[in-house]
Amino acid sequence: MNFNYTEEQLLIQKTARDFAKDHLEPGVIDRDDTCTFPEKEIALMADLGFMGMMVPEEYGGAGMDAVSYVTALEEIAAVDASAAVIMSVNNSLVTQLIQNFASDDQKAQFLPDIANGKKLGAFSLSEPQSGSDAGNMRTFAERKNGHYVLNGTKNWVTNGISSGVVIVLAVTEKNVGSKGISAFIVEKDLEGLSLGKKEDKLGIRGSDTCELYFENCQVPVNCLIGNEGDGFKIALGTLDGGRIGIASQALGIARSAMEKSVAYAKERKQFKKPIAEFGAIQSKLATMATNINAARLLILQAAHLKDEHKPYSKEAAMAKVFASRTAMEASTDCVQIFGGYGYMREYGVERLMRDAKITQIYEGTSEIQELVIARSLLKE
Ligand code: CAA
Repeated sequence: MNFNYTEEQLLIQKTARDFAKDHLEPGVIDRDDTCTFPEKEIALMADLGFMGMMVPEEYGGAGMDAVSYVTALEEIAAVDASAAVIMSVNNSLVTQLIQNFASDDQKAQFLPDIANGKKLGAFSLSEPQSGSDAGNMRTFAERKNGHYVLNGTKNWVTNGISSGVVIVLAVTEKNVGSKGISAFIVEKDLEGLSLGKKEDKLGIRGSDTCELYFENCQVPVNCLIGNEGDGFKIALGTLDGGRIGIASQALGIARSAMEKSVAYAKERKQFKKPIAEFGAIQSKLATMATNINAARLLILQAAHLKDEHKPYSKEAAMAKVFASRTAMEASTDCVQIFGGYGYMREYGVERLMRDAKITQIYEGTSEIQELVIARSLLKE
């Protein structure tokens, strides 16, 4: 196994790092305070090719590999976890789903605009009664006169408000469980599709999340992706890639927590010496650094397997469960190291702790990742 990044991957890492410092950092605390979507910043990220990183160049993307993608995503997340999830959903869930499962016509119609930032993508699987048990959805798509007529409610849709297109999973055949689920690509301006209120969240407050309501919404039949009944496997196969993205988001948060902790521990004096000289602080820093390295290796392994077109569900789940736990622990310890200052919003480290929490929940909770890992072990 090669542990070195290529010249191109190093360049992407530097580009993402510089961009994040110059364009994301200046407003990040304010966007978190005011729940402001980073519209201008996402447009700049699209100009850099970050919104369609793995989309082939013929469809307007940057044509890069998954290792480059996770490397860039870590850099974005280290500064702004909200921008990172917007990027992750657009890349991992929307462009990858279309690329892997849509027809050539659908790719030609949708991919260029999503990759170049003209239209943001969203992915809509969950419903009020179906979160972890994603197959238990109720939104129904009835085929009628050249359309599918959608009725139902979807929730927790990341990019739900700002997106121009949304991948929607809906039931086309009842009473056959997840085998009756199909995937659609839906333009957001269709009649019968309306938005719920913008959710008020603990973290990633710069990204928007909302419910989607379908009331007799007529979706053209050519918006079905794959065949009727393929939807659940399409969604889960796509979420495997999504989980590597969220793991990278968590890694960026954890790394930021470590870097801020190291800098503060060297500068903050108590009992006449920098707190970095105390063993209790050193132990926290050492644990952060070790877990961050381990998380990055798990992510790179999963991304490498994806690039090699080998199975990677288990490795993606391992990367996500470990990186998200690392983000939660590192950010909590960072606040602890900052003490009273860490609890104050103006220091910007409590945001890391709030942003980290969702990485243990969305795109499959940690408990679901463990289930995926355990099922895979028991099957081997
Ligand atoms: N890829 C492709 N197919 C898969 C798969 C995968 N990774 N995992 C399972 N399948 C297939 C199975 O082989 C099975 O097919 P057959 O019946 O032909 O054998 C079929 O899918 C059903 O699989 P299961 O019986 O394992 O399904 P299940 O109902 O037990 O559920 C689960 C499995 C892992 C719990 C799944 O429901 C799951 O991942 N739940 C979590 C949902 C989730 O991640 N939601 C995230 C919402 S999106 C989001 O958060 C985005 C955002 O906003 C940021």
